[in-house]
Amino acid sequence: MNRDTIINLLVEYKQQRMLRCLELLDPFAQDALLRELSALDFREIASLYHNYKYAAGQTEKIFQEAELVSPGSAACPSAECARLEGLGRQALQDGRVALYLVAGGQGSRLGFDGPKGCFPVSPLKSKTLFQLFAEQVLALQQRYGVRLPWYILTSQENNPATLDFFKDHDFFGLHTEDVRCIVQNQIPSLGLDGQLLVGKDSLLFKNPNGHGGSLYALQDSGALADMSARGIDEIFFFQVDNPLVKIADPLFLGAHIDRRAQMSTKVVRKTDPGEKVGIIGRVNGRLGCIEYSELTPEQTAEKLPDGSLRFKSANIAVHMLSRAFVEKLVSRADFHLPYHSAVKNITCLDACDGRLVEQSVQGIKFEMFIFDALGFAERSVTLEVPREEEFSPVKNADSADSPESAQAAMLARSRSWLARALPGRDIPEDLQAEISPLFALDEQDLADKINPDSELASPLYLG
Ligand code: UD1
Repeated sequence: MNRDTIINLLVEYKQQRMLRCLELLDPFAQDALLRELSALDFREIASLYHNYKYAAGQTEKIFQEAELVSPGSAACPSAECARLEGLGRQALQDGRVALYLVAGGQGSRLGFDGPKGCFPVSPLKSKTLFQLFAEQVLALQQRYGVRLPWYILTSQENNPATLDFFKDHDFFGLHTEDVRCIVQNQIPSLGLDGQLLVGKDSLLFKNPNGHGGSLYALQDSGALADMSARGIDEIFFFQVDNPLVKIADPLFLGAHIDRRAQMSTKVVRKTDPGEKVGIIGRVNGRLGCIEYSELTPEQTAEKLPDGSLRFKSANIAVHMLSRAFVEKLVSRADFHLPYHSAVKNITCLDACDGRLVEQSVQGIKFEMFIFDALGFAERSVTLEVPREEEFSPVKNADSADSPESAQAAMLARSRSWLARALPGRDIPEDLQAEISPLFALDEQDLADKINPDSELASPLYLG
């Protein structure tokens, strides 16, 4: 697209702000910006803005709870769990499973400068989130005697720092060819008036396209083709912020495979109506995630006859996806995850008295969400797991979902594993214990490995 065509498009789509800014940039910066604009789908951007302004929130949404699989319940007794776990273990041993971590965000809500995975979180050794995951991956490889390919979604902003971090730590002992950082796409943010914005770097202001963009990134980066060449059938998907995540849990994997599900989700039970988590449920009949802000206060607090919350299936953003399902989704012309919008402050440039000045404006950020793909799955499992074993995210600098709450959860889980691994021993309530995944991946592993006469004094590191 040449310069005139782009200028004409900007005029046609009434992008005055961009035209003003372009005029004031030096020729070099103009060229760079024009190159970006030439790759833009103006019609798509206009339609996103139209949806934000006129369509969003207009259709009435009817919410229903999801059907749950709860291990240990009458519908899923322990013998059935053992059978499903066996199926999951077999898939792992056969090398049919890949891992996919979404780590495109920065630790800004945490007040941490850098990729969130580099945040030091473990209670005694201050291991980073990336290290905790890498140790689990190593331990799983040893247990199942396979190489587990691990794909990590990064943003354009945090990709170099993420790669450097893994290189600086020699990939924590993993084969470098098994760890692949891929990059997600970006989408322009808009002013509240629908205008494209120029960032402080004189380029188009964009934001990462959300974790839903992870599916397209698998295709665009060649990771899907790589998985196919490696004989991968199933993808274990997880978020960077949860240090308790049970990577490639065989029960989850087995339940998903047994049902021939295309996409499955783990949930924990929500007991506090005020907890800010998405709820896995049906939205107008389609499986998906209901954000907490979408439920009315009455719906949020509504109880079932057994006293549990009606909307209790808290999304912990752990999924299984079949590779065939992802391939189908990203290759189908009619498949598009919807964009969600959020208003945020943006620092950008605008023309003032014949020169470009920085200003802070309110803008619209567009993102796709992975859980919207659930609505395309014909078969799905929603597996309930114990919160204290598997979920304590690090999102905020303090109070709920903070490093402090996650460390407390890690310590509590270690104590509970020790109590079951060492029956009859007295576990001090304030015992500070950290168990490396390389020592034990779960409580059975711990029971098999720990010396029954181990001294139980703080700090206790098992690594
Ligand atoms: C998310 C879920 C919520 C769920 C909760 C569990 C959304 C909208 N909500 O909330 O339903 O209960 O987790 O912890 O997702 N990421 C990228 N690229 C992006 C954006 C995000 O890789 O463009 C990654 C982040 O690095 C992070 C994950 O996606 O690993 C979650 O993103 P975040 O925005 O923090 O989600 P939450 O709002 O905390």
